[in-house]
Amino acid sequence: PRKIIIDTDPGQDDAVAILLAFASPELEVLGLTAVAGNVPLALTEKNARKICELAGHTHTAVYAGASRPLMRSLVTAEHVHGRTGLDGPDLPEPSMGLQDANAVDFIIDTIMREKAGQVTLCALGPLTNIALAIIREPAIVPRIREIVLMGGGYFEQGNITPSAEFNIYVDPHAADVVFRSGAPIVMMPLDVTHKVLTTRKRVDAFRSMETPVGDATVQLLDFFERFDEEKYGTDGGPLHDPCVIAYLLRPELFSGRHCNVTVETASELTLGATVVDWWGVTERHKNALVMRDVDADGFFALLTERLARL
Ligand code: BDR
Ligand code: CA
Repeated sequence: PRKIIIDTDPGQDDAVAILLAFASPELEVLGLTAVAGNVPLALTEKNARKICELAGHTHTAVYAGASRPLMRSLVTAEHVHGRTGLDGPDLPEPSMGLQDANAVDFIIDTIMREKAGQVTLCALGPLTNIALAIIREPAIVPRIREIVLMGGGYFEQGNITPSAEFNIYVDPHAADVVFRSGAPIVMMPLDVTHKVLTTRKRVDAFRSMETPVGDATVQLLDFFERFDEEKYGTDGGPLHDPCVIAYLLRPELFSGRHCNVTVETASELTLGATVVDWWGVTERHKNALVMRDVDADGFFALLTERLARL
């Protein structure tokens, strides 16, 4: 199986992404690393453990990493995810422990220990932990198989400001480090994730599983989608983070282009914008495979089939 580390700020959509990874034998989850994002670190690391317990994956190690962005103060998103970050289901307080080691050290040690080209980083939150790992030990960069991240937008632009997507906006300096690092990057922007909507019919498929994971998924999504439904009148909400895991399982569901991505770190107006050279109008290095389209029905068929296994 493909070895992955999931760096995450759960988050209902992060939770579904983690469940999808746990349900997939093609993937070996080496650990979950929590970062501050949707809610503060104390909640994201606890939420990560709650999800492990829900899935019966108490053997998966959970590490806490950065409690704040590299240079800015933390911006959170309780208005989307609720006070706990994982509002919706009533998941019990986790009894499994948090690892003593720091998430950043875990990322470095794991990549240096495993054979070069083996470890994929799945980034579902602000990129602080991954940037810190790259800054502290640049030798990890050529050993990383791929960084597959949810973040940014170009035709769709922003969801937290008019020009910035949340994960990049929270820590634009970290995102800048990652996009300049030279590691192979696959980017799942809002352009893709806004096409993956949790419609009534799709959520009903989870409901009819009649399992604890199916029920919790319905409750997570019922809470999560109310934000977009109320604000934008859509049928369902965008299932951002699971796109990262689905790409590892079924890359043919997605299509995009190799191009240069540069992160805005200076402008007050457009801080955290991802400037994507989609049309190749510069000579800048093509540092990312930027996705644009997704087979949403294929994505939900995969997700439903996999979650039913848990
Ligand atoms: C991203 O921000 C968070 O709210 C979600 O979990 C996702 O990672 C979407 O902009
Ligand atoms: Ca997230």
